[in-house]
Amino acid sequence: MTHFGIPVAELIKRRTSWRSYQARPLAESARRQLQTFMEQHRAGPLGGSPRFTLVAATQDHGDELRGLGTYGFIRNPAGFVVGAVRDVPGGLEDFGYVMDRLILRATDLGLGTCWLGGSFSRSSFAVRVEARDDEVVPAVFSVGYPEIKRGVLDRVVRWGAGSHRRRPWHDLFFEERLDTPLTPLSPLSSLLPLTQERAGPLAEALEMVRLAPSASNRQPWRVVAQPDAQTYHFLLYREPKYNLNLRLLQLADLPRVDLGIAMCHFELAAKEAGLAGTWSRDCIKGIQSLPKGTEYIATWTAA
Ligand SMILES: Cc1cc2nc3c(=O)[nH]c(=O)nc-3n(C[C@H](O)[C@H](O)[C@H](O)COP(=O)(O)O)c2cc1C
Repeated sequence: MTHFGIPVAELIKRRTSWRSYQARPLAESARRQLQTFMEQHRAGPLGGSPRFTLVAATQDHGDELRGLGTYGFIRNPAGFVVGAVRDVPGGLEDFGYVMDRLILRATDLGLGTCWLGGSFSRSSFAVRVEARDDEVVPAVFSVGYPEIKRGVLDRVVRWGAGSHRRRPWHDLFFEERLDTPLTPLSPLSSLLPLTQERAGPLAEALEMVRLAPSASNRQPWRVVAQPDAQTYHFLLYREPKYNLNLRLLQLADLPRVDLGIAMCHFELAAKEAGLAGTWSRDCIKGIQSLPKGTEYIATWTAA
């Protein structure tokens, strides 16, 4: 039903970030299949079409990555997938959505990957994707055959980012009901937590959001649902300190990329459960008021 050889939930659970790879290039067939997928799946949910290219890794890439605000040490990658997107509202979310679908395809092909978010717009990566002046290069991902066991540095980075942890449902998913109206500046915690029972057939799709990767594992996605109307509002929760860090390091607005990844997981899992839907950005009217600290990103409504 989706574009993958196995159920998308399995792929999402199988994918974890790999930072050490076997020292060998991608097999020609894997390279070709990734390339074809890349060319066929370019459209994002919010109207943009980010462009991607697969480049073979060179020694210089490792040195350059360290100067671009990425963390973690990438050992022996076979290559990188580099993308560029127009710097417009919704652009970074489209980028995250399309790039994560590519990562799931790479996982499907038995490859290991690691998202690397930084400030690539003036790097050699931007040159490889021929980024134009109106485009940004917010992230790349490394790709290759994973080592049998994770390297020590990889394990240290995972430990530092708390990569195996995810926030519980009640921190992420909420229900807006007429008897619990939001007022401006209501904290998210004043909303009812959304239970798996109330989410019904979309519970699995939300679980796939919860398992998504995010920059520094900050998990900035929040969903406010009107489950009776099968309407799900995706919000971005900004941690002020993390936001300041991004600006100081001049990194792209990575939480917006994270939201795109969450939207990708949600849509793919919903589709697999037989639920089609549409994304829009003008449903903000449907939600009474934005909870404190959040930004509206997009709304999914069952078709
Ligand atoms: C937008 C984005 C940027 C990321 N940037 C980096 C990075 O620069 N270096 C790195 O080692 N990992 C990076 N990661 C990987 C996260 O640390 C990782 O996804 C998170 O800790 C969860 O772990 P998991 O991917 O193994 O599930 C990034 C992830 C995302 C989504």
